[in-house]
Amino acid sequence: MKKPIFILFTLIFLQSCKTETKEPAVSQEITTDSYTEEYRPQYHFSPPAHWMNDPNGLVFYEDTYHLFYQYYPEDTKWGPMHWGHATSKDLKSWKNEKVAIYPDSLGYIFSGSAVVDLKNTSGFGSSDNPPMVAMFTYHNAEKEKAGDTNYQTQGIAYSLDNGESWTKYTGNPVVKNDKDQKDFRDPKIFWHEESQKWILVLVAGDHAEIYNSTDLKSWQYLSDFGKNLGAHGGVWECPDFFPLKTPSGDTKWVLFISINPGAPNGGSGTQYFIGDFDGKSFKTDQKQEKWLDYGRDNYAGITYNNLPEDERTFIGWMSNWFYAEQTPTTKWRSAMTLPRKLELYKDSTLYVSNYPVAAVIKDLNYFSPQKEKEQNQQYTDSLLQKSNLKFELPRPLSDFEIIYSNTQGDSLKMGYTKSENQFYVDRTKAGQSDFSNRFAEPVMKAPAHFKTDNTIEVSVFTDQSSIEFFADKGATVLTAQVFPHVPYTTFSIKTQDEVKNLKLAHIPSTWNSPNQKNN
Ligand code: FRU
Repeated sequence: MKKPIFILFTLIFLQSCKTETKEPAVSQEITTDSYTEEYRPQYHFSPPAHWMNDPNGLVFYEDTYHLFYQYYPEDTKWGPMHWGHATSKDLKSWKNEKVAIYPDSLGYIFSGSAVVDLKNTSGFGSSDNPPMVAMFTYHNAEKEKAGDTNYQTQGIAYSLDNGESWTKYTGNPVVKNDKDQKDFRDPKIFWHEESQKWILVLVAGDHAEIYNSTDLKSWQYLSDFGKNLGAHGGVWECPDFFPLKTPSGDTKWVLFISINPGAPNGGSGTQYFIGDFDGKSFKTDQKQEKWLDYGRDNYAGITYNNLPEDERTFIGWMSNWFYAEQTPTTKWRSAMTLPRKLELYKDSTLYVSNYPVAAVIKDLNYFSPQKEKEQNQQYTDSLLQKSNLKFELPRPLSDFEIIYSNTQGDSLKMGYTKSENQFYVDRTKAGQSDFSNRFAEPVMKAPAHFKTDNTIEVSVFTDQSSIEFFADKGATVLTAQVFPHVPYTTFSIKTQDEVKNLKLAHIPSTWNSPNQKNN
């Protein structure tokens, strides 16, 4: 009989923070069997227990990738927000750390970002021990209830021990919301070498605002972006702003804006704009928004600070506000996408591709699966649910369809239609969907763009409750949660073309690796 091992950990936050009234003790009961729960991802990050949404404060420092995240440690539904924390040495295995930042009298701790203040411009540390500085949104629920409109402001906190413990700045809030803007949040901060300033981008309802600072504490407003541009079906959220090299070697700036609702396939999604930044304002000649991922489950994603310029690494929240709180899990809720590398590519105009970072793929053992039925290329594999399937097809592409199925009759379909020049993911009959009437429909469609002229790769990553579909090395991407009644064990590929280099790799569980730590 399996003996449940209970690891109970109580986190008592003892730090002296002058804006704090009291620091609550958070207790989490984590059972080892919660990592074998039916839909628990095996190689994607999910919280040890309870509710998670957006990734926050992604920063690389001293050989460690930090992942902070929107966290409610008391329930599997959204509630007063904290910053949860996990670290990784390789972007594959994650170690759960103590809850990093707690709500206080100024409000809940909403989304934001973190930097390493290497020159100690803030004075919070020293040049020998530079502080990690996080900026987040304070969301004051009481003020909101009272009908005030300035209930969101920006605060900062710093850590002198690699993100383990945090002290809030006594001068918070550092950006006050003078114009009483109802949705005023999600600060992204980074060091801008050319102007020798810190830059802050945040969103204010229907536009982004840019600020700068020399010390991370005092901020000057510089400019606005986007009131009359892009998708406005919902509130603008979680901006990110960073340079990328074009294929010809020029530098362009990319602004990510998540939006909810208003994504092309319904609910939450991330649009972006490509343009130029002079240290003060962002200009684009784009007439329309572009979308990072056409699947319905990649939201609020941001990129790492403090990594080399050619390693722009992204993580998104693999859910959608349409049904995020209803998904059929019990002890924990939601997961992150695989960490993905962003690049610019040209297909008549510039686009951003996103594709799993090399570290995720590098050590996988690929093999050639053996066909069962010749006519429709059918294969059986008992570990399909934890795998990467990839193959190549010639361009111009003709229609193709991949079908994943199981013994309960669930079928997940992914493919391409030439008449529409679209890739798609159809999860309408892929498994459980009765937890929300907004989950199964519609079939997710993505206009096809290409990086490569001749042969393209199609690559599908499947975990216990997600699929990530990448066409042509991330030129077109669809990310979706799926809840099959039992794991998928069969796949088939329908196409009139020759399928080349068909490979499958089983992906080991990172939660069973020696690196796993739940406390
Ligand atoms: C995006 C978001 C952010 C906000 C956070 C609150 O999913 O709504 O705008 O800061 O979630 O948890």
